[in-house]
Amino acid sequence: FQLAEKYGPVFTLHFGSQKAVVLTGYEAVKEALVNFTDEFVDRPPIPIFEQIQHGNGVFFSNGELWRTTRRFTVSTMRNLGMGKKLIEEKILEELHLLIETIKSSRGEPFSLKSFNAAPTNITFLMLFGDRFDYKDPTFVTLLRLIDEVMVLLGSPFLHFFNFYPFLGLFLKTHKILLKKIEDVRIILRNYIQISRQDLSENSLSYVDALVFKQHQKDSLFHDENIIASVLDLVMAGTETTATTLQWAILLMMKYPEIQKKVQEEIGTVVQSGTQATYEDRKNMPFTNAVIHEVQRFITLLPHVPRCTSVDTHFRGYFLPKGITVIPSLTSVLLDKTQWETPHEFNPNHFLDADGNFVKKEAFLVSLPKPCCPGWGQSQSPRASAPGSGAQALSSAPESLSQPIKTGLRDPLWGPDSPLENC
Ligand code: HEM
Repeated sequence: FQLAEKYGPVFTLHFGSQKAVVLTGYEAVKEALVNFTDEFVDRPPIPIFEQIQHGNGVFFSNGELWRTTRRFTVSTMRNLGMGKKLIEEKILEELHLLIETIKSSRGEPFSLKSFNAAPTNITFLMLFGDRFDYKDPTFVTLLRLIDEVMVLLGSPFLHFFNFYPFLGLFLKTHKILLKKIEDVRIILRNYIQISRQDLSENSLSYVDALVFKQHQKDSLFHDENIIASVLDLVMAGTETTATTLQWAILLMMKYPEIQKKVQEEIGTVVQSGTQATYEDRKNMPFTNAVIHEVQRFITLLPHVPRCTSVDTHFRGYFLPKGITVIPSLTSVLLDKTQWETPHEFNPNHFLDADGNFVKKEAFLVSLPKPCCPGWGQSQSPRASAPGSGAQALSSAPESLSQPIKTGLRDPLWGPDSPLENC
């Protein structure tokens, strides 16, 4: 923000020997992602992801392989019911188990991580065709590995490796990370193998669909691309939804008056003893606004790098083909020209004067549906956000519904007590 105030919405940062053009604020990011879609469509080569995916998969691929794999991924997810009624039953089942987990704590403190299993399981269901028992050793191992990989990806040593990859011989973090990724791949290969033994056109999972596509001799769906695509979805589709749900719970506890309004709204729309359906969302403007506000406020992915696919003239600057571009999503989600109180958790950001839900373009630009194949799921009221949080909390012991202190190193919460002390 400070750099943008000094240098304007478009400026260059130097990371070691590399340069990146940063775009900040709603206007500049929107112009780049909406009006210059084709020019800013590629991903830059980031050393650690080059070593993990070698240009395969959906997230860090480019060109024809990206386009084809992505189109296939989006349509397969849609066919499997992502964000639609088809998957609703499964989400309800998962929600029920989540509520049981909370109840079983009988008012005693429990780790927020308990909330990870349900949203992760929804993603796994679509990837592998079946849910896991929460105690299943494969499930536990995958959850642990994903968590460890995410922590390592945020490590300063890894950023150092990305800036100076030629020092890789002397650095350790990326090697530990690559080993953990290989452990995940071993599990994924096993699922691919099982799917190959029972090949069918009526795919029950993303893995099945990939294997069938390969069987049809589509040359882009080679072994490396198949495993990279599943790995991308495992990584992109688990921590994102699980962390959003954790934040939703924390925010509901931090703002009990908002939690109460969500519960009241759910109470008026959903008959006692039943659970909310996807359709009910239309009649729950406040809950819907809270879900969106959680996603805005937490700015989960501050930026995802792109790069220019051709020489580009943008806002009076010349950006040569291949230069890294960082659209700051945080700067859009906290842009004071777009949000009345950008640094406050305020569901009114998504409500009009009559309490109707309003779509905000600044939100759509920073969490764009066309960019993220998992968007339907992440927006489902029960898959990831306060809908489930508030429903879960309304079934939880009274003490949980009280305001709490946590130790998130974030201005909202303060650094004083450990996160697990709910
Ligand atoms: C709250 C949850 C989520 C958030 C906030 C989120 C956000 C994002 C963002 C900001 C991007 C980058 C878009 C860009 O490059 O401009 C992205 C890409 C992506 N997301 Fe999500 N996502 C979420 C859930 C999911 C889920 C559940 C899945 C899959 C099951 C998923 C799969 C992907 C993939 C594969 C990409 C790469 C797309 C591409 O490069 O073409 N995400 N997501």
